[in-house]
Amino acid sequence: MTQHILTAVAWPYANGPRHIGHVSGFGVPSDVFSRYQRMAGNKVLMVSGTDEHGTPIQVQADKEGVSAKELADRYNRVIAEDLTGLGLSYDLFTRTTTKNHYAVTQEIFKGLHANGYIFPKTTMGAISPSTGRTLPDRYIEGTCPICGYDGARGDQCDNCGNQLDPIQLINPKSRINGETPKFVETEHFMLDLPAFAEVLGSYLQSKQGEWRPNVLKFALNLLGDLQPRAISRDLDWGVPIPLDGWRDQPNKRLYVWFDAVIGYLSASIEWARRSGDPDAWRQWWQNPDARGYYFMGKDNIVFHAEIWPAMLFGYSGIGARGGSPGSLGKLDVPSEVVSSEFLTMEGKKFSSSRQVVIYVRDFLARYDADALRYYIAVAGPENQDTDFTWQEFVNRNNGELVAAWGNLVNRSISMAAKNFGAVPEPGDLTDADRALLERSRNAFGPVGTELGRSRFKNAITEAFDVVREANKYLAEQEPWKLKDDPERQKSILHVALQVVDDAKTMLTPFLPGSSNKVYSMLGGEGVWSGMPEIREVDEDGGSPYPVITGDYAAGAARWEHRPIRPGTPLAPPVPLFKKLDPKVIDEELARLGE
Ligand code: MF3
Ligand code: ZN
Repeated sequence: MTQHILTAVAWPYANGPRHIGHVSGFGVPSDVFSRYQRMAGNKVLMVSGTDEHGTPIQVQADKEGVSAKELADRYNRVIAEDLTGLGLSYDLFTRTTTKNHYAVTQEIFKGLHANGYIFPKTTMGAISPSTGRTLPDRYIEGTCPICGYDGARGDQCDNCGNQLDPIQLINPKSRINGETPKFVETEHFMLDLPAFAEVLGSYLQSKQGEWRPNVLKFALNLLGDLQPRAISRDLDWGVPIPLDGWRDQPNKRLYVWFDAVIGYLSASIEWARRSGDPDAWRQWWQNPDARGYYFMGKDNIVFHAEIWPAMLFGYSGIGARGGSPGSLGKLDVPSEVVSSEFLTMEGKKFSSSRQVVIYVRDFLARYDADALRYYIAVAGPENQDTDFTWQEFVNRNNGELVAAWGNLVNRSISMAAKNFGAVPEPGDLTDADRALLERSRNAFGPVGTELGRSRFKNAITEAFDVVREANKYLAEQEPWKLKDDPERQKSILHVALQVVDDAKTMLTPFLPGSSNKVYSMLGGEGVWSGMPEIREVDEDGGSPYPVITGDYAAGAARWEHRPIRPGTPLAPPVPLFKKLDPKVIDEELARLGE
């Protein structure tokens, strides 16, 4: 059955280039998943964009001495280029500073407000005396009133772990310029999370056995302490609050997280409009048979497993206060929140300021996208925090991609090309031939099942087992010694090429670039697995901006064994992967200052 699958990918902040820690959380997993789903015949809508509002952008803009909009423009483009370079197949990667996004965000706010799930409240907020700007909680530091620790932040103390309010800190200071903040009364809008306690509870309970256990456990834990949450800020950079008396206030904006999660919906609507069928988004959002999968790093779980579902429920009129759906209609909540754990770099936390980092663009300037995609799939932080080391990267690249997979492709195709110039016709098959063919063909089921459940490590390990068995088969059959028995040699090479073809199909979600090469080396025509591209677009009257999109449906890739055709001409192969000189390990460590 063809299903509508929404792949909702976390929106990177447009406050700097992305490093490989970021893309190991949201990027590569979501793309592997989407490519598999398309190959399995499902209708995928993969959306995201840059997250361009709020403090993270404003603080960096101040540092670089540019406006928030200039900063967002710059990094929106950089990030779009990085993600395209990795081959991430977004149907639409847009941004949160579009007119469409503002309109959809305001519509969701109004719907929640009309249903009674948003209410105003007077609170005490910190402002910087020198700039007059609000100081966000985590930019205030002071002594913890509970344990006496010196470096407690306005939102929490890392020493005793308690949640704090900035006003509780003893001797509070701005982390930006050291000054003492002033506390003033300020009015904000709150999202009434306690009104969703029941619906969120049964929603999350129904996901037992389906979601990754650590993600569900974390989300269920949050239910124990649901508090109303401020969804506005004293800031001039963000989406205006769409209510009379608020709309024109220059210093009140919606909280960046409130608008960012709505991006999944607004991007789907933008995609539909660009595709020429403005209602097409509804098939992924208002369809009992559609499924929505959200990909992110674990620091984003609270927003996707609790706040976003609450917003969608409330807009749809579901919650303790009831209500009715807003003008967009009832909206579907996430089917699964697929969160990764964290990646560290040579044993340390990624840090741009301390140079413990490798940016995607620098990585791609020196190594292939598929080499990074492979590493993330096989050794990334799928279920636990993991460490990226250059040693392991080089080992896996040389030992697994080059020596196992690349070599299987290379020797099978080059021997067949040299001896027969084409895919050879097999003769009678031996037990060993049949066993390998069956092994390979039978792997589509289990590898596909694991991919559909986002168990990427299992999936790629299983697919690589087929590669290893094929190498073992060649080592045993020694076709290179059979010059006097061309008939047997043909059978062996036919079997090997068939397994190469199967394996390239199973590896396509992980390694789309090199799988495309194998496809054409085996005589495939046209596009196998589509690649993303950057297009410049605009909204009426707006300035142009880059989006990522692509025609993925045009690709021939299907999740199935496909018999190779004897007689298909074969040319000598080109190497699939670059073998890395182990000295790059020291070079890269030197760049890290190790
Ligand atoms: N910008 C956030 C981060 O990098 C992620 C936002 S995901 C969202 O942590 F789409 F929900 F906004
Ligand atoms: Zn403390």
